[in-house]
Amino acid sequence: MKKIIFSSILILLFIGCNNKTNTKVSSKNESIEYKVDSVLKLMTIEEKVGQMNQYNGFWDVTGPIPEGGSAEKKYEHLRKGWVGSMLSVRGAKEVRAVQKIVVEESRLGIPLIIGFDVIHGYKTLSPIPLAEAASWDLEAIKNSAKVASAEASAVGINWTFGPMVDVSRDPRWGRVMEGSGEDPFLGSRIAEARVRGFQGDDLSATNTIAACAKHFAAYGFAEAGKEYNTVDIGTSTLHNVVLPPFKAAVDAGVRTIMNSFNELNGVPVTGSSFLQRDILKGKWNFDGFVISDWASINEMMNWGHAKDKREAARIASIAGSDMDMEGNVYIEELAQLVKDGVVKESILEDAVRRILRVKFELGLFDNPYKYCDEAREKEMIGNPKHHKTVLDMAKKSIVLFKNENQLLPLKRKGQKIALIGALANDKTSPLGSWRIASDDETAVSVLEGMQAYKGNKLTYVKGADVFIGKQSFLKEVIVNKADKSTFNKAIRVARNADVVVMVLGEHGFQTGEGRSRTNLQLPGVQQELLEAVYKVNKNIVLVLNNGRPLAITWADKHIPAIVEAWQLGTQTGNAVAQVLYGDYNPSGKLPMSFPRNVGQVPIYYNYKNTGRPIDKDGNVFWSHYSDVDKTPLYPFGFGLSYSNFEYSDLKIDGTSFKIGDDINVSVNVKNTSSVDGKEVVQLYIRDLVGSITRPVRELKGFELTKIKAGETKTISFTLNKETLGFYNNNGNYIVETGDFKIFVGGSSTKTLEVNFELK
Ligand code: BGC
Repeated sequence: MKKIIFSSILILLFIGCNNKTNTKVSSKNESIEYKVDSVLKLMTIEEKVGQMNQYNGFWDVTGPIPEGGSAEKKYEHLRKGWVGSMLSVRGAKEVRAVQKIVVEESRLGIPLIIGFDVIHGYKTLSPIPLAEAASWDLEAIKNSAKVASAEASAVGINWTFGPMVDVSRDPRWGRVMEGSGEDPFLGSRIAEARVRGFQGDDLSATNTIAACAKHFAAYGFAEAGKEYNTVDIGTSTLHNVVLPPFKAAVDAGVRTIMNSFNELNGVPVTGSSFLQRDILKGKWNFDGFVISDWASINEMMNWGHAKDKREAARIASIAGSDMDMEGNVYIEELAQLVKDGVVKESILEDAVRRILRVKFELGLFDNPYKYCDEAREKEMIGNPKHHKTVLDMAKKSIVLFKNENQLLPLKRKGQKIALIGALANDKTSPLGSWRIASDDETAVSVLEGMQAYKGNKLTYVKGADVFIGKQSFLKEVIVNKADKSTFNKAIRVARNADVVVMVLGEHGFQTGEGRSRTNLQLPGVQQELLEAVYKVNKNIVLVLNNGRPLAITWADKHIPAIVEAWQLGTQTGNAVAQVLYGDYNPSGKLPMSFPRNVGQVPIYYNYKNTGRPIDKDGNVFWSHYSDVDKTPLYPFGFGLSYSNFEYSDLKIDGTSFKIGDDINVSVNVKNTSSVDGKEVVQLYIRDLVGSITRPVRELKGFELTKIKAGETKTISFTLNKETLGFYNNNGNYIVETGDFKIFVGGSSTKTLEVNFELK
């Protein structure tokens, strides 16, 4: 009882010192700073360490269970006020129960912040993030994050571990499905959109949640695409490719950052002062807090950077990791380290100040139960409006690779259609691997989506399994036997069909964390199935379901129509069917290059020219491969439509500019077809000579625009010093004079160009 009275006094004290709480996301709020300080003054060292301690809820586990993580101990620590946050507790009732323990039983009653991986939705799922990135539609991406917030905030969650803003050039890495692909500019714009979608304009609103840009930094550059592997990259790549999306997220007001499992150039990033103190909190002035990745503080011992937990706690806290995710290291070691004078109390205070700041901004001190309204939970989860938004996002994410002989859109009547492939009838795989809260079998399958179109005779045959093995979120069992019992039936049905639609690709659990692959072809016997069907019927529409770029070189050569449909979430089947039948005209463009084979990896559009870029006189001594073309199969920015677009009249308002001038560029884009469509007009630059060599192309602007059949639109861009410069090897942004090229077009390779000089 005494404790309850104390908590209430604390709250009254705050109300007294500031009558109105204004918890806007971005600007520092004086009244919040005052409140944070007054709470901090009341805290013991143990309570401060407690705020830096995050425990996992007692059921969902996303990593190995660290020693000593028992439920009893966690309950005891909650009562003592030794826990600042919980992850993966969900449900209005459940979160209320856990929140009640700290608010009513701990000495100071400081509410918990409740985190969860709301990566592309909570229950109602949007496409996987890589697919969303293919839409290049920032408004749609923002709306998709809003849906995720609306559902998550209704089940007690007030903090998502998203967006993942790791740039990656390596499709072997399973987590490319969680990011926005290979480009820092597109990645930055999407990072901003997602942060704004999750956090809204007002973090204290009940339907917004704090975002977390992760994984800081360079996790996407794991050597050989192997999960959790070492990262060794140069300063130019770090500053120009890896860091920009994090900076964009910080500038957009992201309230938290997660560090990562990898080391960077010999230092595990969880213990990197350079990244966390110098860059993030120093140069970028980030005033939110940093959470470790799952037990990544402990993992510094395995890396050989800390000899024991005590050393790991010292290194991580001093380096600026503010909260320990389920590692039990801070709670066990940090108080003693402070008492021994090894870690200054000011380190704790800085971390706690950051954590409390975000809790105040969320409005948790005003009402710790604000996200725990069961009536709202009922109304929000699976709300029909959410289904509408994720369907819209799913359609926008689809990329058309090939459409020979206008095989697509499909005719609506009188056709015999064979639908083949296990994924066509899969209601789980399209949900992807990051969907802890959604239920199995809840996606609309492609079969169901196509059944909604009644004019044709549709026959479904599985043909073969997708992959050789059984997988779940946590377990992976590999067996070398695929079910081929309906292989021959598939061939029979295909032989008699007018059109064959084959849905092939990866199972939902073949990408994501821990799912690195060395083979980028269609898994299992799917390639065999595709070739066997092709022998009896060449009219094939291949619909790909996958979470990473695949090497589908054979299919590209032989199959007349190819549709990249990723893992599109809850509304997958409806989105695919509407595109196949032409009720939706696809406009997606690739956010990541597709290689011809795995040996080309890493392959990306913004590569360096090298000293020997071209083959003069048929010599062998130039930068290429002897056994395969050096270009990707499908480049970054590529994607077709049922419309055709023609680019002309690329203009620039001068040929010579001073640093600081605005440079205006325009281009005409004509829809030469008879169908209305949308096009992503892309602008790239090349800085021809740099003190640090510059990539052959760099995306610096894009516009998604609707163009009616026959219509010509003029699209304008403005370049300025924010877009023309780069980071030097000291991490300073500079703009250099000299000659530049501008390229504008509908992909990174098919472009018009003009030149200018910067003086
Ligand atoms: C992942 C993070 C995730 C965390 C909590 C880790 O294994 O790397 O991205 O947020 O688990 O689930």
